[in-house]
Amino acid sequence: MQRILTLVFTLFIALQATGREGMWLPYLIGQLNHQQMQQMGLELSAEDIYSINEGSLKDAIVHFNGGCTASLISEKGLLLTNHHCGYSQIQSHSSLENNYLRDGFWAMNQKEELTNPGVTASLVKYLKDVTNEVLAGVNQAMSDEERQKKIEANLEALYANVANPNNYQLEVKPFFYGNQFILIAKEQFKDVRLVGAPPSSIGKYGADTDNWMWPRHTGDFSLFRIYASADNQPAEVSEDNVPYRPSRHLKVNIAGFEKGDFTMVYGFPGSTQQYLPAAEVKNIAEVYNPQRIAIRDEILAILDAKMRTDEATRIKYASKYARISNSWKRWKGEIKGLERTNAIERIRNEERAFAGKMLKNEDLKAYENILERLVVLYEKRIPINKQRYAFLEAGYYGQEMLRHLRRYQGLVAIADTASEERLNELGQRLAKGLPGFYKDFDAELEEKVVQAILPIYLKEISTKDLPEILSELKAMDAYDRSEFITEMFEDNPVLQEGWSDLLKNKPAKAASKLQKSDAYQLTVAMLEHYFEVLNPAVSEVDNQINKLQAKYVEGLQKAFPKKSFYPDANSSLRLSYGKVKPYQPKDGVTYYAQTYLEGVIEKYVPGDYEFDLPEKLINLYKRRDYGLYSENGKMPVCFVATNHTTGGNSGSPVLNARGELIGLNFDRAWDGVMSDMYFDTAICRNVMVDLRYVLFIIDRFAGAQYLVEEMDLVKTRPGAAAKEEEAESSEMEAAVKS
Ligand code: ARG
Ligand code: GLU
Repeated sequence: MQRILTLVFTLFIALQATGREGMWLPYLIGQLNHQQMQQMGLELSAEDIYSINEGSLKDAIVHFNGGCTASLISEKGLLLTNHHCGYSQIQSHSSLENNYLRDGFWAMNQKEELTNPGVTASLVKYLKDVTNEVLAGVNQAMSDEERQKKIEANLEALYANVANPNNYQLEVKPFFYGNQFILIAKEQFKDVRLVGAPPSSIGKYGADTDNWMWPRHTGDFSLFRIYASADNQPAEVSEDNVPYRPSRHLKVNIAGFEKGDFTMVYGFPGSTQQYLPAAEVKNIAEVYNPQRIAIRDEILAILDAKMRTDEATRIKYASKYARISNSWKRWKGEIKGLERTNAIERIRNEERAFAGKMLKNEDLKAYENILERLVVLYEKRIPINKQRYAFLEAGYYGQEMLRHLRRYQGLVAIADTASEERLNELGQRLAKGLPGFYKDFDAELEEKVVQAILPIYLKEISTKDLPEILSELKAMDAYDRSEFITEMFEDNPVLQEGWSDLLKNKPAKAASKLQKSDAYQLTVAMLEHYFEVLNPAVSEVDNQINKLQAKYVEGLQKAFPKKSFYPDANSSLRLSYGKVKPYQPKDGVTYYAQTYLEGVIEKYVPGDYEFDLPEKLINLYKRRDYGLYSENGKMPVCFVATNHTTGGNSGSPVLNARGELIGLNFDRAWDGVMSDMYFDTAICRNVMVDLRYVLFIIDRFAGAQYLVEEMDLVKTRPGAAAKEEEAESSEMEAAVKS
């Protein structure tokens, strides 16, 4: 009896734990997920979510500038995405007089909307499995090279032959490490205008302190609009363009939701590693993340010390600090989350289950030892991969100067041979970038950073045939090396008076000065060593790893035919689904799923660079002037749910059981960020802005009611939401009774 109880219970927990994880291919929803989604409350058909024909939900989902997600929320092409996704556009329109980052920006009519040349918005038109075409004629006997050649030839033929009357962008992406190939057709719009953004004190409220955290109080949204030609086709930025008329836009539901309500996230998750062996997850937790965190610890501590005491530095380095601290904080969370969920042991259990299947099933013979061989390769990769990370962290991400000097490589390369005209043109182009570089550069601070991190890099790199300057530096004692760095900064031509003029007027001389400088020589040596030694060495192992990973995942799929597998994220359109749900990050603590404006006010620190608030917001709060958007007299702000998301899902619409917009995804809660490798429904949560807060800010705070009027508001909640909760509790009761 006890045994049965445990069994039923384990089964139940397993179902709970794995039931909703996954980033699913929209065209397979009907086959793989729809039934479960309905049980959880979904009221739509699979066709409503994804259809090749125009007008399904997918036609309202936009890939925003290649990185983030956005959604269409009016029949006039209005786009909703995150503040942090539109950040550089907002910044680019800002000046001292019009500081839109600080004060926000609101176009009060379409004429005032601001163009952003270069920014794209893409809609997925269709997805098509082309695995058979891509792998035609590929067989086991082929060498890697032959295989690669064959695939490339097939791809070429495929691109040449596919009918493309509408001139869509076509891309074939590999899924499951190349076991499957999918053709993705997109329509790319190029006239995307800024419509509105709240001040950073709302859109970035809590900044780095609150980043990745729950409870959260950030209004992380901005509004853009897609413009198209008069006949509704993509067009270059032009005055003649008109607002795009989408075949589908999302309705906005302001009736709210409750704990347990169904949610789904539609968007473009960037990358995950869901099928790694436990051993490699352990490497990430114990080797790679700690290594990268340690280097960034140094950088961030140095930046922070000066940013806290000096206002000018704070402004200069805010963006760099945010960039470096974002992944740094996530890596720390990953380590904790893996530990807390016992993920490595649980993945090992799955590996044991796979091994068990192989013992019993002749058909799985082909997969014997795959895992063992994979683990060997991952171990073999560690020393070289650590060197690669040392370069990326201490060399590339950590050093502004290195990245800047890299830009001159083209000039140096042609300095002796090119015509004067060509050199002048290049010199002038390079000089154009200088004000932007100097504006955010603090040489003294930068030198401190380099003093701290260059030795870490030098200690780590250990391949044969190091470039001379690197082996010399490696051999130096700490004192000499520090002297070298100091002099390198003193003698750096880029940091000397008149560099811009020299570049413009005597580009050949500028190039020769650069070439003689230690800073440039070091940069070139580090880059060469990375591109010519480290990267190829890692790639060689990676290729072998990928081949085995493909085989491994194929084996898993054969061994567990009843389980649905989802491919790792790869910036293609996916759907995740879950429920609004509180969670317990640690013993004795439960987090609610929803936050309110009260919490925004509680965190308020007047004058603080992360927690200051606009007076107008405080006044709206005092008057409880919430318009249509309150819930029992309170203003909802953010909420969490169990949707499986990752980077790239920023700006993704969060939809209710009827496919109406209720939230805007922008983050994950820190306790569960290991979900890129191991998802656990118990503590993995995506973080969203409540759409009611978005509308409240647009309407009451910004006074841009005309934007709300463009939208279709829905004021009733979907009905069947509580269904699965009931099913769950009766299942639980049944289990306890038996
Ligand atoms: N953590 C979110 C994401 O990964 C937000 C990042 C932007 N905000 C920041 N403070 N860095 O992208
Ligand atoms: N902020 C992330 C983004 O820009 C989303 C958070 C996550 O990694 O889930 O895509």
